[in-house]
Amino acid sequence: MNRLNRMVSDLVDMTRIELGRVELDTQTNDLRDLVIEADELFEDASPIHQLVMDLPPEPLMVCCDATRIGQVLNNLISNAIKYSPQGGVVELRAGTEGRWAWVEVEDHGLGIAPKDHLRIFEPFQRVGRKEEIPGVGLGLSAARRLMEAHEGRIEVESALGKGSTFKIRLPLRQKDEGPKGERPGASMDQRP
Ligand SMILES: Nc1ncnc2c1ncn2[C@@H]1O[C@H](COP(=O)(O)OP(=O)(O)OP(=O)(O)O)[C@@H](O)[C@H]1O
Ligand SMILES: [Mg+2]
Repeated sequence: MNRLNRMVSDLVDMTRIELGRVELDTQTNDLRDLVIEADELFEDASPIHQLVMDLPPEPLMVCCDATRIGQVLNNLISNAIKYSPQGGVVELRAGTEGRWAWVEVEDHGLGIAPKDHLRIFEPFQRVGRKEEIPGVGLGLSAARRLMEAHEGRIEVESALGKGSTFKIRLPLRQKDEGPKGERPGASMDQRP
């Protein structure tokens, strides 16, 4: 597929996500595998950035659409690289907290002013005079929609000039859940 076709189909996909018209193909996944895949994709993306992974020794089992969560992670890593134009370390961490599995992507780049911490999750909001850095401003709004569709969350902690940490959470798979996340007695049709 050429670049223009890819851009158009990405935009169509983002629009479908924004309108809530995505069907999740939910399977049981070890979230660590999705982080490793995303890391491999960006490993050689930039000569001035270094990706560092810190994953727990035990599996992080979640019910999710691996392609969609991969898309969220790819946008977070691509943002971490794009918005630290001076280069540096990008850290990928994962773990559990109560009933959640989480992944963090931390950079030491431009950072985001507190007044913009909510706005960046709205479509087409590009903040902080970053016009020279390519992007349309859809990655984070799509990420938020996709995390909500998974009954998960996305959060940011950031300080201008210091860097940013984006954290996604997914519910840990419960022991009585089927491979696609269905609980006994609940049908897929009742899921949002
Ligand atoms: N790691 C980060 N550091 C600093 N600013 C960020 C970071 N991630 C996102 N932003 C800010 O939030 C805005 C929205 O991010 P988002 O990923 O939605 O869009 P984009 O990267 O500009 O374009 P797209 O992802 O659609 O190609 C960015 O334009 C940027 O201003
Ligand atoms: Mg982006």
